[in-house]
Amino acid sequence: MLDQVRPVPIVEAAALEADIHGTFAAYRATHPLIALAGGGYVVLRYADVERLMSDPRLQATETALPHQAGLTKGALFDLFEHGMLTANRETHARRRAAVSCALARESLERFRQHVRDAASHLIDAYLDDGRLELVSGYARRLPVLALARLLDLADDALPAFERDVLTMNAFFRPGPTPAAVDAAEGAASRLQNALGDRLDQVDVERSGSFFSTYKTIAGENQLSPLEALMQIVSVVLGGSDTTRAAIVVMVGLLAERGLWQEVRRQPALIGAVVSESLRCEPAVGSVPRLTVEEIELDGTVVPAGRPVLLSTMSALRDPDVFPNPDAFDLTRPPLRWHPMFGGGEHRCLGEALAKIEMEEALSVLLASLPDPRIDGQGLTIHGHAGVRKVDELTLRWH
Ligand code: HEM
Repeated sequence: MLDQVRPVPIVEAAALEADIHGTFAAYRATHPLIALAGGGYVVLRYADVERLMSDPRLQATETALPHQAGLTKGALFDLFEHGMLTANRETHARRRAAVSCALARESLERFRQHVRDAASHLIDAYLDDGRLELVSGYARRLPVLALARLLDLADDALPAFERDVLTMNAFFRPGPTPAAVDAAEGAASRLQNALGDRLDQVDVERSGSFFSTYKTIAGENQLSPLEALMQIVSVVLGGSDTTRAAIVVMVGLLAERGLWQEVRRQPALIGAVVSESLRCEPAVGSVPRLTVEEIELDGTVVPAGRPVLLSTMSALRDPDVFPNPDAFDLTRPPLRWHPMFGGGEHRCLGEALAKIEMEEALSVLLASLPDPRIDGQGLTIHGHAGVRKVDELTLRWH
């Protein structure tokens, strides 16, 4: 027990949103965490964030978020109740194992080739226009095409799949309106039906396909039909908005910092661009947890039963680990174990795929567009909790 507990500074949402990096930097120097005026805590320092990702005194949020939004059943609720992202301990391990094994058997070279072809196909359609709105024309579509490869989706199923993924994901952004929640529920339900049909039809004898391997292992691991389906919806959720935001941020940072030509001349720098853009402006700002026991951090205390955000966004600019953290520096030593993909038992299962998508997205743009410029509003990113929102970003080249 501490003799004297240090007070935790309380920060209003509007003040934080006005300058997220600046606010985090100011408090991180003196405090390990802040409290949000609307409830919950944000852990700021790299060492704490990394350690707490594997600390059993914190756990995934199970059905706390949908309950908060007034949801107690339905397709969105299923994802929280039966998916891996929000599950804990042995339930989580059992649900994660089948996806993890099936992804480990996926040929990354074949996936890379598929993503490269899909990216070339997308950009070719815009070359004569001389203009591309990056979010809707490229960054949103590429992850969906990559997922379609994993899930063996037919071409004619893609438009509905893309629409439903986009609509469902709106639920997971901060403060969805009641209309957005209703629309997300409808989209999640359609996705569940469509992916459930695919799962029923998939040929387990077709070796080498992610989906067929997954179905076999899910059966061996005795996942219920709903659980088996929900881990696939979890992959769709984990692999869509995240990579979309990451691609927009990466291209925006490169174009805004005047580094396009340099990286075009030296494609070996693409890996550094991926890593440094994920560090500077991570697509996922934080991971949510609940304290199951009281936690003490540098004289401050978080009581049991409180929501906590482990802020990757703040940790990745901690000057104790990253000298001159606000600089976008392609010469930084590479991060072998990128904290951007989380840590502990929920560490991202799609890290290798996400990096391939980002590398190929950039490589194809660099090869196709010799000298693009940003037209209108520059790179604009909102939020710090969960997947961050990026505004439209237009490139021009004529
Ligand atoms: C740049 C893109 C991506 C970023 C920044 C990212 C980040 C993360 C983070 C931080 C977590 C941990 C969440 C937590 O602890 O609560 C996570 C989990 C997860 N990610 Fe990713 N991710 C990306 C792309 C992908 C892709 C492409 C896929 C699949 C195709 C994917 C699938 C998953 C899954 C299934 C989980 C849940 C793991 C579990 O709960 O055990 N992610 N991701």
